[in-house]
Amino acid sequence: MKEEGFNTRAVGSGEIKDGKYGNVVTPIFQNATFLYPNYSEDKLEDPNTKDSYIYSRWGNPTITALEKKYASLEGARSSMAFSTGMAAITSLMMSLIGKKKRVLSIMDLYGQTLSFFKNKLPGYGLNVDIVSVDTMNALDFDAKKYDVIYSESITNPSIKVLDIEKLVKFSKEHKITTIVDATFCSPYNQNPLAMGVDYVVHSGTKYLNGHSDTMSGFVGTNMELSDVFEMRKNMGGTLDAFQAYLIARGMKTLGLRVKQHNSNAQIIAEFLKENSHVISVNYPGLSDDRYHSIAQRNMRGFGGMLSFRVKDGLDGARKFMKGLKLISAAPSLGGVESLATLPIDTSHHSLSEHDRKVVDVTEDQVRLSVGIEDAEDLKEELGNALRTLS
Ligand SMILES: Cc1ncc(COP(=O)(O)O)c(C=O)c1O
Repeated sequence: MKEEGFNTRAVGSGEIKDGKYGNVVTPIFQNATFLYPNYSEDKLEDPNTKDSYIYSRWGNPTITALEKKYASLEGARSSMAFSTGMAAITSLMMSLIGKKKRVLSIMDLYGQTLSFFKNKLPGYGLNVDIVSVDTMNALDFDAKKYDVIYSESITNPSIKVLDIEKLVKFSKEHKITTIVDATFCSPYNQNPLAMGVDYVVHSGTKYLNGHSDTMSGFVGTNMELSDVFEMRKNMGGTLDAFQAYLIARGMKTLGLRVKQHNSNAQIIAEFLKENSHVISVNYPGLSDDRYHSIAQRNMRGFGGMLSFRVKDGLDGARKFMKGLKLISAAPSLGGVESLATLPIDTSHHSLSEHDRKVVDVTEDQVRLSVGIEDAEDLKEELGNALRTLS
């Protein structure tokens, strides 16, 4: 049978509809606990325990419905939802302890992930080496040393693009497990599993939910997730049913939203490039961007994230931020509203000068999560804030 389209799956996949009630939307099973043993003839089975639902830290029908929706959009056979992106990442990595020894990753990782990799994982016998995205893309490392490669498909804040296609081919030849955090792409722009990646992770806090009002994380794979399930039970990073309902609600419009994010970001990137107060723009949709051809091979759309350098250094960047009215200065990304940050004053404040150079963060760099507002209004807003630099 022909696979349903992305938006059809986003709306309908995973939904629990019960003819007894005639509900058209999955109910919120606001239950910590369930009848157990459950003697009902037609009891529902939790796919993770293969038993009826018992206790919501283990599983809950509203969460299962969300996991099925995510799996359908990601093209994953198994998926698991978590309370945050970090709960997903830590649970997945902790599940590898004792089975894997050496991980290769990139310097441009999300800060909390990098800190967990550098400061915590080695204590559990999982040692992590760090290279630049370009080194990883060039496959310029000794494959024999690694059991796992972990990367992000688009990095923050310099918007570098991972060459998944190339990396997967190489990793398969060397029997290295691959994990990709595809938060910045969302499943609308990229499905790493279909490209041969072993595990995909997302901070659902961003595009998947899309409204900057809930937190969640996801792991998807075409393999088993029983060890990750054990970790979720142990560490307790389970979602709550009400959050799961809200996230499923947001996920239904993922395709519509990301289409608009992609289109707006392209318009804004081209607009910024022409502005005399802007030194340079990082956006893989620009035909002369360093990562354009890699993005063309690895993504269906170029995404809603971009960064740019303004004139007059740190003072100029701060002045620009102060000039914003419609766009809020706030961390995080992937929501319907545009958000801007100055990495030097926020996410990358504590990095050494050397490390900042490796990840290409400069004092005059602004990161923009382009929302779904009308592009004309965003252009007006950015133009006005840039004009304050003259
Ligand atoms: C790429 C990426 N991965 C993971 C995370 C962590 O997600 P959360 O904040 O939902 O724990 C973030 C958060 O910003 C992120 O940007």
